[in-house]
Amino acid sequence: MAWRVLEATEEVTMRRVISQASTGMWLTFALAIAAPAAAQPATKPLYDRLGGVYSIASVVDDFIERLLVNDVLNANPAIKGARTRVPKAGLKFHVTALVCAATGGPCTYTGRSMKDSHAKLNINDAQWDVMVVDFRKTLDKFKVPSREQEELVTIVGSTKKDIVR
Ligand code: HEM
Repeated sequence: MAWRVLEATEEVTMRRVISQASTGMWLTFALAIAAPAAAQPATKPLYDRLGGVYSIASVVDDFIERLLVNDVLNANPAIKGARTRVPKAGLKFHVTALVCAATGGPCTYTGRSMKDSHAKLNINDAQWDVMVVDFRKTLDKFKVPSREQEELVTIVGSTKKDIVR
């Protein structure tokens, strides 16, 4: 439906119509406006298609647990050092909020930028690739449909330039 700003004269007329209308007329008017939207539902935000924040938190929980025991990642002393220093509950919280916000959910991400938080970790391409493999394993485990998987992998992929040295 194409929307346009009402001209001043039209607005006055509309106000008069609304103030003169009976409740029944107003209801008919409201339904007439709502009908086209119901006939053509927009695609839901990825956040909703994933099942909201509880689903996202469960996926992040499983994903981080995999990363923490990934031998390729732990062979990097900077990653292994952070693993013992950083409480995993806090990491899961930040990653959940980030994914929630990035998929159109109602969360606010309050952590550091991807550049700042990974600057000292010396993450290389091979380590990035095993992270993506673990991410896919988690998405498969939770039976995330392929369309949503691709959207999530694209979101994660958009951070690579800030994370890999
Ligand atoms: C191979 C890839 C990755 C590794 C090894 C990795 C590892 C880590 C580690 C060890 C930390 C804690 C750093 C610290 O507090 O000193 C961290 C923080 C974080 N990572 Fe990653 N990460 C990777 C990729 C990603 C990706 C793809 C995302 C999101 C799309 C992400 C999101 C975050 C967030 C939100 C934080 C918390 C930032 C904060 O503390 O304020 N990471 N990561």
